[in-house]
Amino acid sequence: MRSYKAKMVEPITLPPRERREEVLSEAGYNVFNIAAEDVYIDLLTDSGTGTMSDAQWAALFRGDESYAGSRSFGRLREAVEDVMGFPRVIPTHQGRGAENVLYGCLVEEGDVVPNNAHFDTTRAHIANQGGDPVDCPAEGAGDPTDGSPFKGNFSVERARAVADEVGAERIPAVVLTITNNSTAGQPVSVENVRKTAAFAEEVDATFVIDACRFAENAYFVKRREDGYADRSVAEIAREQLSYADALVMSGKKEALVNIGGFVALRDEALFEWAKQRAILYEGFPTYGGMSGRDIEAMAVGLREAVEPPYVEDRVEQVAELGRLLEERDVPIYRPVGGHAAYLDAGRLFSHIPGGEFPGQSLVCELYREGGVRGVELGSFAFPGADRLELVRLAIPRRTYGREHLEHVAETAAAVRDRAEEVSGLEIVSEPSTAELRHFSAELAPV
Ligand SMILES: Cc1ncc(COP(=O)(O)O)c(C=O)c1O
Repeated sequence: MRSYKAKMVEPITLPPRERREEVLSEAGYNVFNIAAEDVYIDLLTDSGTGTMSDAQWAALFRGDESYAGSRSFGRLREAVEDVMGFPRVIPTHQGRGAENVLYGCLVEEGDVVPNNAHFDTTRAHIANQGGDPVDCPAEGAGDPTDGSPFKGNFSVERARAVADEVGAERIPAVVLTITNNSTAGQPVSVENVRKTAAFAEEVDATFVIDACRFAENAYFVKRREDGYADRSVAEIAREQLSYADALVMSGKKEALVNIGGFVALRDEALFEWAKQRAILYEGFPTYGGMSGRDIEAMAVGLREAVEPPYVEDRVEQVAELGRLLEERDVPIYRPVGGHAAYLDAGRLFSHIPGGEFPGQSLVCELYREGGVRGVELGSFAFPGADRLELVRLAIPRRTYGREHLEHVAETAAAVRDRAEEVSGLEIVSEPSTAELRHFSAELAPV
């Protein structure tokens, strides 16, 4: 059931088909190059694109812009302690700022960092410190038809094999990303969090949770894991984070803000060290690159994220998009995860070879057909990796309603109806950093 109503609106329009054709060609068949005003339904990301509540807007006015020790920082610290159970907090401008601060303290040249699956900025920050980020996904994560409830889990067996190979002393940190963005937003069970914590202790590593979608994860635990049905999302959220030594948080997800993030820590020595890095890269450790007013909104949003009407509506809306797509026989990754439905372009466009980017072709067709913007997360975004050809349709929080989702599903169904006519794409220009090519490369139809 929808748990919000609109108080302010932003006009959106569907440009005529001829204009959409023109836009695609001008953008070099890369939707990152399309202006927002030319997009009708924008499902590029759920990061920083949601709608703030009236309580968050009201909190902006309380922003204390003092350089050091602001009241706003005090309110954030209290919210992080109440909601997440961590006593020490350093605000950062967004999630990758938190990663830079923390991994700069933990990771050195030659280290190896296992994760259930690294998000791209996490991978980049670990690599930037000279470390080797290694994915240890659960069995079944790469199968879009496997219906297991916790496909985001960390494989302790794989991580142990890595430790045996490189030596435990080269593993300074073990990371768990909840939910697992790089595995279709799949959740992680609390049992798996406990096992991962035990493994981190075994190899004497800092156990880090990337908590940016912690409330969605807690909701899945409530629905799917034995013994949690009668616990509140807030209780589960705290329990799952209680096993970690450190958190990195992008507030643009489940602190329900448009910008912001933080590092949260238990250990005092690590906290002191992280503060020094924060001063260097983010700002004084009580504002860390954020304005006081934005910190206020983040403190309020963090509390709202674990409220039952919000989080239930959030996850169920994503499931609703999955259902609308499946009712129209559009192939998707199953089960549907926490923040996005993922279309399986490999199955839909089985006639397009991997080298001609079936996922990116689908992204372009969704725009051409209905002005819908999604993002390719397959061979175009991850060159050289053995990955499914997925297209992510991420839903901004508290922003769209059922009719918008129906439009998206109808658009995907119309593309499915003419799938055989769709051709692949080839790259015509790309930046020198291959890992970042999907943000700016230009393509053309084959
Ligand atoms: C799992 C995960 N970690 C880290 C980040 C980085 O956060 P930010 O975009 O705020 O820098 C993201 C962003 O999408 C994410 O999904």
